[in-house]
Amino acid sequence: MRIAVVGTGYVGLVTGTCLAETGNNVICVDINEQKVAQMQQAIVPFYEPDLEGIFKRNIAQGRLTFTSDLESAIDASTIVFLALPTPPNEDGSADLSYVLNTAENIGKCLKSFKIIVNKSTVPVGTADQVREMVARHSKHPFEVVSNPEFLREGVAVMDFMKPNRIIVGTHSEEVKKVFSELYAPYMRQGERLIFMDERSAELTKYAANAFLATKISFMNEISVLCEELGANVEMIRKGIGTDDRIGKQFLYAGIGYGGSCFPKDVQALSKTATDIDSKVNIVEAVIKTNTQQRERFFHKISDFFGGNLKGKRIALWGLAFKPETDDLREAPSLFLIDKFLAEGATVAAYDPVAMDSTRKQIGDRITYASNQYDALNGADALVIVTEWQAFRNPDFDIMAQKLTNKVIFDGRNLYDLNRMEERGFYYNSVGRKT
Ligand code: UGA
Repeated sequence: MRIAVVGTGYVGLVTGTCLAETGNNVICVDINEQKVAQMQQAIVPFYEPDLEGIFKRNIAQGRLTFTSDLESAIDASTIVFLALPTPPNEDGSADLSYVLNTAENIGKCLKSFKIIVNKSTVPVGTADQVREMVARHSKHPFEVVSNPEFLREGVAVMDFMKPNRIIVGTHSEEVKKVFSELYAPYMRQGERLIFMDERSAELTKYAANAFLATKISFMNEISVLCEELGANVEMIRKGIGTDDRIGKQFLYAGIGYGGSCFPKDVQALSKTATDIDSKVNIVEAVIKTNTQQRERFFHKISDFFGGNLKGKRIALWGLAFKPETDDLREAPSLFLIDKFLAEGATVAAYDPVAMDSTRKQIGDRITYASNQYDALNGADALVIVTEWQAFRNPDFDIMAQKLTNKVIFDGRNLYDLNRMEERGFYYNSVGRKT
């Protein structure tokens, strides 16, 4: 099939590359000409494991190309995926200007039948808005489909190639036929492709992210009780996760969820409800608990130093919002860095891949260590923010030598409590005894 993907962020580029991998001809479109030139030279513009290999292979095979010319890409394709940003407005609602501007431009250059597909996370009713916008500028027939993406950064290629399910919102039998063929190579069982109406598909995406965020906030709330009651949240996780109705995943307490999706989508869902004079009490509580969890973690550190962080040296392990990405959006590390610096502490950080992206964003407000141990030189405490594999089994002898105080605050519960006691560290984690 001949496909255009408009927008080459995480979702767009992974979608385009993975669609090319099964034999389709894919043209990726981006307004950023510098980025297009980079991709034309087979350079992936961000870090995503497993992407580079198939990206390069499909470029070499001529199935994956790049352009900043929307019209030529539309002319050459039957299916047009929109994978555009929907950043939050100040009131928490999703900003649809990128999506609707592109819909307008597509309408203006439509010359024959196209299937226009929303891949971005967009509020309920957006497919209708896109349809109206395209129709305002074109007399040619087209369909608008809602096909939300469920990939996770860090494992995006695997999530695309072996999806749990694919949701396609459409009322058109023709589109159902096309999408059944398009996605057949990614299906292990037919029932993973679920057709529904456009509005249900749009809401499914928000409901999925809000539900997952709820699991996390729920466990974070339980972790607070654990700390107060002398219980261990890791035991609770195992204890309840073995119930199939609850499930093992997304039950890890920590410093709260971050990233480009959960914070934005949960807020947007809450705003959607407010707009229709409805109330989503659980969703609002999820947001509140997430904010409190970060603050609580910071206060534990501050309280340890008697409420005075002035002149303290903090070593930070992990900057990315989660492992296997260089993405810093809504990363707890940035929240903590701001707090530490505001209280007069200094920060030396290490992250296996997110140092460049951090430097670009916050410059030299902190120092960047060349390896995880150098970050510890003369530090009063180590604070662990991201659960990179390299932090899971470190050399504790080197750590003890380098740290001024053998003090670790672990926002990801990486180490065994008894072993840390034997090693003589003050070890403060989440939802477990200190
Ligand atoms: C999330 C969803 O998992 C994807 O299904 C969805 O497609 C994507 O958002 C999106 O809407 O585009 P992502 O943001 O890449 O994917 O990352 P997750 O792996 O879901 O992690 C989100 C946050 O939750 C991270 O900050 C992570 O540390 C935190 N988390 C996750 C926990 O605190 N505890 C857990 O048990 C799991």
